[in-house]
Amino acid sequence: MRYVDPVRNPYAPGAGQRPPELAGRDRELQVFDVVLERVARGRPERSLMLTGLRGVGKTVLLNTLRSQAIGRLWGTGKIEARPDQSLRRPVSAALHMAVRELAPHHRAPDRIDDFLGVLKAFALRANSANAKLRDRWQPGIDVPARAGRADSGDIEIDLVELFSDAASVATDVGTGIALFIDEMQDLGPEDISALCAACHELSQLGAPLIVVGAGLPHLPAVLSAAKSYSERLFRYQRIDRLDRLSADQALGAPASREEVEYEQKALDLLYEKSGGYPYFVQAYGKATWDHAPRSPVTAEDVRVAAPEAEAELAVGFFGSRYERATPAEREYMRAMAALSASEPTDDMDAAVPTAEIAKQLERKPASLSPARDALIKKGLIYSGERGTVAFTVPHFGRYLRTVG
Ligand SMILES: Nc1ncnc2c1ncn2[C@@H]1O[C@H](COP(=O)(O)OP(=O)(O)OP(=O)(O)O)[C@@H](O)[C@H]1O
Ligand SMILES: [Mg+2]
Repeated sequence: MRYVDPVRNPYAPGAGQRPPELAGRDRELQVFDVVLERVARGRPERSLMLTGLRGVGKTVLLNTLRSQAIGRLWGTGKIEARPDQSLRRPVSAALHMAVRELAPHHRAPDRIDDFLGVLKAFALRANSANAKLRDRWQPGIDVPARAGRADSGDIEIDLVELFSDAASVATDVGTGIALFIDEMQDLGPEDISALCAACHELSQLGAPLIVVGAGLPHLPAVLSAAKSYSERLFRYQRIDRLDRLSADQALGAPASREEVEYEQKALDLLYEKSGGYPYFVQAYGKATWDHAPRSPVTAEDVRVAAPEAEAELAVGFFGSRYERATPAEREYMRAMAALSASEPTDDMDAAVPTAEIAKQLERKPASLSPARDALIKKGLIYSGERGTVAFTVPHFGRYLRTVG
């Protein structure tokens, strides 16, 4: 009989927390390996876009893909997009990082300095003409700015020039540059449009620079609203909940490294509770481990621990998001929750027609548009199909129904 040591609890619920075992993502990792190889050889390849609900593991996967690229001596940089923030500054910082990673493999330091000069000129454009001197941003690049390239002020033109110059530095060393963008749905329309144009241009040139994005399920709609050809430009990969086998692996593999086992019935119940959503797998796994006195872990251990997992999710996963909503927005979401309960697929928190929400709240549909748009902007709901909305947070409808 083995004691389950709480100090050795391996599970990691939390945004962007690296899981002890990255389960069920082999296909995505393989696809990316091929992409890296093809791009480095100048073969035509589409940029990748990972989409999925909150807590399915997009950020973690993005970070893993980044390590994969670094492993192949690529230059990499990462951005987390924010609403109302322009792309210019974060792109400068990310490409600066990427080129610094490449520099040690490069034989001609002046080529790096040339690029950094262009990058600085691009970055300095982030300062609007009338910004006060002390508010001006100083990119931490120690070469003089080189005027005349990537500094027109038109983000589309500038990104194309900047990306192709960055790519040519990578060509010199025989690898590539990968730019990772998390929460990509939050980029403004102008920036999205410019990014699409730059990716389009670069792939036509066979230049080794790719953008790897991650975002909520409506990211494809955001991209195609900006540029109609974006559907052909990107390869979308839906990141979803784990199937039973992968969920068992996510729990079982780290446990067995600590010589802890689960009874089959414990795994059955854990899957029923988590629905295979990675965040929930980690949360229930962690609480169960803390409560289980000995290995093998039983279904009873899971049952005893579940309320603690649920209490933690209520605060850290659901509550923190709910609090971002105004009273009117909360009312809107409650109506959604009530309506999605009447669907047969309760667990899925099915999409709800906006017309039904208006009826439920006895309001005119147009009067609810501000609440709906604000909730989309806050990333709490999304509109996958025209005229419907759904929660971006799995099990959110159920949560709202239980808090009453
Ligand atoms: N493949 C996986 N196997 C096991 N656990 C995972 C896996 N992917 C992610 N997790 C766990 O799930 C949780 C959420 O991961 P992550 O923050 O990457 O999700 P996300 O999709 O980026 O969510 P959000 O949309 O809120 O940013 C983390 O605790 C992480 O450890
Ligand atoms: Mg994330």
